[in-house]
Amino acid sequence: MKQLSETQLQDNWNKLIQVIKDTFEDGSERRENLLKMYHDLEDRMIMAPASGKEEYHYCHVGGYVEHVLHVVDTARKMSDTYEAAGGHKNWTDEELVFSALHHDLGKVGDLNDEYYVPQDNDWRRKTLGEVYTQNTDIPNMRVPDRALFLLQHFGVKCSVNETLAIKLADGLYDEANTYYMKVFDAKRSLKNHLPYILHWADHMATTVEFDEWKLGDEDEKEEMESKIENIKNVTVSKDKQNGVPQEHEDPVLENKHQDLFDELFGDKS
Ligand SMILES: [Fe+2]
Repeated sequence: MKQLSETQLQDNWNKLIQVIKDTFEDGSERRENLLKMYHDLEDRMIMAPASGKEEYHYCHVGGYVEHVLHVVDTARKMSDTYEAAGGHKNWTDEELVFSALHHDLGKVGDLNDEYYVPQDNDWRRKTLGEVYTQNTDIPNMRVPDRALFLLQHFGVKCSVNETLAIKLADGLYDEANTYYMKVFDAKRSLKNHLPYILHWADHMATTVEFDEWKLGDEDEKEEMESKIENIKNVTVSKDKQNGVPQEHEDPVLENKHQDLFDELFGDKS
């Protein structure tokens, strides 16, 4: 599973704060309130994963911030692609970035506690790949609902386009969204397509993150197999040279063996 270093966690956090500073007008109430919210939630937000199961997306420490940055970037491209395809863009760039920044905010938890807590059931971790589980000590709310609650708590106003984009980010994967998205009366259909842009961007980013995990996992497995093979080769070569291992073995060979062992299992000294 992917592991981010302390430096990477901090870099991603700095990038996130920079997106806010670059997007919202200096000195505006919205920017000030957003910065206050990010300051208050920083400790939890910087560590939060983007999902709870390995085969979902970015289920690692710092995965939330990484995923949000990915969705912001993908949403910008998706919006450009929509226009290039002849679509009518009736949302602002600020609305686009705001919705992407906060579509998963509810995954950070409520005002006091996190949403994802480590799964301590060994069987569920190993068999179901549940690295995290949902914290049942906080009120049960849908992720978009909690996002909108947190924003209003910090006095961050949302436009109607942003509200619907955050609410409908999961598209028709969430049955509750059929009320808005599966409408057979043109008068009731969405008057603005920002929710689709955000859903497509989120879906694409999530799919790419799945690929990254899958391929990364295979690379990790190959690397591990190659290291084990190297250790076997050194062992075979040692046996061929000396027969049954002697009390005083070849120091060069012995050091190589130790180096490979350390590379595989970490320096134990
Ligand atoms: Fe997401």
